[in-house]
Amino acid sequence: MKTPNTLTSFRQSHLNGVINAEIGLPGDKSVSHRALILGALAHGNTQITGLNTGEDVEYTELALKSLGVDIIQQSPTSRLIHGKSGWNFKQPINPLYLGNSGTTARLLCGLLASSPLNIQVYGDSSLSQRPMRRVMTPLTEFGCQFEATPENTLPLTIKGSSKLEPIDYVIPVASSQVKSAIILAAMNTKGISRIIEPIKTRDHTERMLQYLDYPIHFTLLESGHTQIDIEGKHVFNAKDISVPGDPSAAAYIAVAAMICPYSTVRIENLSWNPLRSRIFSILQEMGANIKIENIRNECFEPIADIEVSTSYNRPCIIKSEDVPALIDEYPILSIAAAFAEGTSVFHGLRELRYKESDRLNALYRNLNLCGIETHIQDESLIINGIGPKPIFGGKTINAGKDHRIAMAFYIMGLSARNPLIIQGTDCIQSSFPHFIKIFDELSYLRAVS
Ligand code: S3P
Repeated sequence: MKTPNTLTSFRQSHLNGVINAEIGLPGDKSVSHRALILGALAHGNTQITGLNTGEDVEYTELALKSLGVDIIQQSPTSRLIHGKSGWNFKQPINPLYLGNSGTTARLLCGLLASSPLNIQVYGDSSLSQRPMRRVMTPLTEFGCQFEATPENTLPLTIKGSSKLEPIDYVIPVASSQVKSAIILAAMNTKGISRIIEPIKTRDHTERMLQYLDYPIHFTLLESGHTQIDIEGKHVFNAKDISVPGDPSAAAYIAVAAMICPYSTVRIENLSWNPLRSRIFSILQEMGANIKIENIRNECFEPIADIEVSTSYNRPCIIKSEDVPALIDEYPILSIAAAFAEGTSVFHGLRELRYKESDRLNALYRNLNLCGIETHIQDESLIINGIGPKPIFGGKTINAGKDHRIAMAFYIMGLSARNPLIIQGTDCIQSSFPHFIKIFDELSYLRAVS
């Protein structure tokens, strides 16, 4: 079922239940993109389970199919990929449409940098405004060429080359998408390419390559930076990949359980990658009741089950160094801060301006609209929380094609005296298709128990 384009969010209490993949917790979006891409490159068949069913991942799958990769859908969350044992992609007939998916756009640039094809990619109005120079610069150093708009945005033509030269590159912007694009180009470049990452960003590509026994090496430098060496032209064997639950999606459920009275929600099989689970330790610092259980490992990724219940929230101060580990979580963290007693400050949010919308501005505007006094100072967001009482509500929020803004303000409406109307919610489909179903389940269980 498609998410309706307008949602009304009502005050709730007693959110109770167990959320896992069977109920619609999505597979991790970042891991899903990478599982499809590395499965396409592997030698042999990859069985993927737990794949994210949102539109963003679907655009990666469609792009790979247009490039000649054989992918069989066995169920909404499982795929069998016949790997190409390398990069022998075919020229697609039509330009590739990538919807709203920034990860697909950046990773495809890296994947196709070493293919001597001319591939045009384009996206929706939001994706067409997102910066691409950050991937074009290092990939041009390898020897790939691009044609883009004067603003270096989509539509973009990738003119790959089979004669790339390895690079030695210090990543100037903390971005896992950029790092992953470089790794994908390096994998099909003869020799050793080196990346220096000053601030660690999510490392799913690296972990998956280690799981697949691909030669990738890490050195922690005296400066505290991470050096990543990638050997090119190494054929690797396929292995089955199980995708854990998405912690960025689970964060909405966790904050809902915190702010709604008499609630306890268990979330199972969640990625507990330390570069993704930071949101839960911040929520704990804010006073959240979160139990963490069954920490385990699968396919080189840590996984855990958590239980979150109604909590009394303190404000928090978040430093710039924390931004990469919380990059997608600021919208929902802002809602937790709105219901904390006191002032929260999130520092160093420049990158939020380049997401599916200008999130810094969207949070500032919509929190103020909801009666939460919020300021932007330099690149910091300052939120004066009102404590555990509900907001007045009765407002209309425009999600502006940004799934995380839509979901965050839906959660805010769960503690509003008068419903919040959220417009433009079909974008939730890009990452979390069963978002509404999950909240129906959690409140339904209350009605029947
Ligand atoms: C992602 C990395 C992050 C994140 C995005 C997914 C990825 O972007 O915001 O939703 O899968 O690599 P940046 O690495 O560009 O910050």
